[in-house]
Amino acid sequence: MAKPLSLTTSLIIVVASMVANGSATLVSKGRPLDAGLTFIDGRRLLGDGKTVEGLATGLVFGTSVALFMSTLLHVPFEDLILTLLAPLFAVAGDMAMSFAKRRAGLERGSPLKPVDQLDFIIATATGYLALGYIWDPALLIIVIAVTYALHRTTNIVAYRLGIKDRPW
Ligand code: CTP
Ligand code: MG
Repeated sequence: MAKPLSLTTSLIIVVASMVANGSATLVSKGRPLDAGLTFIDGRRLLGDGKTVEGLATGLVFGTSVALFMSTLLHVPFEDLILTLLAPLFAVAGDMAMSFAKRRAGLERGSPLKPVDQLDFIIATATGYLALGYIWDPALLIIVIAVTYALHRTTNIVAYRLGIKDRPW
């Protein structure tokens, strides 16, 4: 029987995954995680969009946020440990999606809406489910909607400010 996650714990998980995923994109150059290797289809394993530096940034920022919020909000110890896994699930999901995109023949950075915006949240939810924890379905739907809206807004703002070269 799956255990429901409390609202507080779920929110920390969501924020920590968002931070992990978002902070990874602050890295514009780095060593590719796939070391330039190609798969049997002749295409890159992950592509230049997934770097060691990006992964490290995402994990460090995501884990710090999870630890900070869990302490601040006094979640039970079991939940604190659970929130620390969120950045791991988020970056794993992001990498899995890049792997899938490369297999589908999509170039690095090619948009795949709305999957690009939601892959990490779906990966995070799936990761917890695999461990036997579930989010309230209503909360999951709200989270997906908010994530999508936030992602679109920040990307458009970053594009207008000239931080990103594409509005997605
Ligand atoms: N990034 C990184 N390392 C990661 C994740 C992201 O360096 N682990 C940086 C890269 O510069 C990447 C940018 O953040 O180009 C945007 O991230 P994302 O949209 O996830 O990558 P894409 O470039 O779109 O590549 P893909 O098509 O593989 O998703
Ligand atoms: Mg992208």
